[in-house]
Amino acid sequence: SDATDSGAPHGYADELSAVLIDGATLQAKIAELAAAVAADHHLDTPPLLVCVLKGAVMFVTDFARALPIPAELEFMAVTSYGSATSSSGVVRILKDLDRDITGRRVIIVEDIIDSGLTLSWLLKNLATRGPAAIDVVALLRKPEAVKVDIEVDYVGFDIPNEFVVGYGLDYDERYRDLPFVGLLGEHMYR
Ligand code: XMP
Ligand code: MG
Repeated sequence: SDATDSGAPHGYADELSAVLIDGATLQAKIAELAAAVAADHHLDTPPLLVCVLKGAVMFVTDFARALPIPAELEFMAVTSYGSATSSSGVVRILKDLDRDITGRRVIIVEDIIDSGLTLSWLLKNLATRGPAAIDVVALLRKPEAVKVDIEVDYVGFDIPNEFVVGYGLDYDERYRDLPFVGLLGEHMYR
């Protein structure tokens, strides 16, 4: 669809080439993911949702509210060395979890799996801390991700191999505030 009729906040419309997933479609899928996760987690202890900042922040807030079971929230910030639009797999923790996850059921909440390198590193890192289980829920996944052998339990949308922004995802810290996922116009990063 045309970015100009997307309801993009004023000032962004001419920077996006298309809306890839509109807000209503995102919310419907998040409700489905939440129902699927809840069906698999009938537990005594609430799972710990680990939001990977900053990209997953919109997703985790909507996901947690759609989840029909109690859950607790934790936040972790990591950075991957690399260019603005691709990651290297060399990851550094900017903000670690506030608590011990020993014996807890952890659900990593990710915005997007592209090469899968960031998630692969995170899974190994969290596994060393003795959780009871680690599941992964990712809103978006690109086809590249199949090249890394990682098990993603719940995926919202498989998307084309294009740079996307919005709904938490940024280009140089912009566009995170959009309520939909869009394609950045090529003139913005070429
Ligand atoms: P990898 O390649 O390690 O990438 O799976 C994971 C992180 O890279 C960022 N990323 C994107 N950010 N649009 C964005 O705004 C994209 O199309 C995109 N692809 C990857 C993102 O932070 C993700 O967690
Ligand atoms: Mg980013």
